[in-house]
Amino acid sequence: MRILLLGPPGSGKGTQAKGLAEMLNIPHISTGDMLRQAIINQTALGQDAKRYMNQGVLLPDPLIIEMTQRRLSKQDCQSGWLLDGFPRTIVQAEALADAGIVIDYVIILEVPDVAVIHRLSQRRVHLASGRVYHLTYCPPREPGKDDETGEPLIHREDDYEPTIQKRLNVYHAQVTPLIEFYRSLSKQHGQPKTMSVNGDAPIEAVRDSVIQLIKQTG
Ligand code: AP5
Repeated sequence: MRILLLGPPGSGKGTQAKGLAEMLNIPHISTGDMLRQAIINQTALGQDAKRYMNQGVLLPDPLIIEMTQRRLSKQDCQSGWLLDGFPRTIVQAEALADAGIVIDYVIILEVPDVAVIHRLSQRRVHLASGRVYHLTYCPPREPGKDDETGEPLIHREDDYEPTIQKRLNVYHAQVTPLIEFYRSLSKQHGQPKTMSVNGDAPIEAVRDSVIQLIKQTG
């Protein structure tokens, strides 16, 4: 099972990916989490990544393609994966296809911009694990602390206006054509199965819709 989750920043890709990957027993591969880990580890990639991410713009395609292909070649990806945050451009999608990597499902979480802004301004994250909270919809048990480790939660540097708006602009410019690319592949070849889900609903309802769609089309 090879799944790609698409959707604007804050649409709930990470939130849904964790549960889905666990249920399907496949790794959740988030390029955003990998880059944030590189920043924590102060690698050369991390130093580059920080500059781009804090501005709300995409890293250059070659950097991301190399990082993701290396990850996908690991043993735990043999029987599938759930990609969250890659590909994000047509060039990245073509690099996957050129490497002979086939996607079974493209799931698009649809959430209006105004809801994204509300979600991201109240998101808090545990950087080391990628666990995500929301001050209203998904609060930690103890304010400001990760449920599992008790470590402090942070407000991501790219989760402040005007960077949120910049990320939304980048999404509409880059990812909308990518969705059309997959829809057209799906029409021509029947693969990947491409489907949209209303992401502007409670977390459990979105999860149920995604599972339902996979079952129906599987
Ligand atoms: P990345 O980390 O991938 O960020 P993103 O795509 O902008 O997505 P987010 O992590 O912001 O949101 P999400 O959809 O995962 O939502 P979440 O589940 O957290 O990328 C960051 C940066 O890295 C990019 O800007 C770029 O610079 C770089 N990058 C990464 N990949 C790249 C690539 N391929 N090419 C080039 N550059 C790349 O949920 C958000 C909040 O809402 C949370 O608080 C959550 O609790 C809450 N929530 C979730 N679902 C619901 C719901 N149904 N109802 C109410 N609240 C909800």
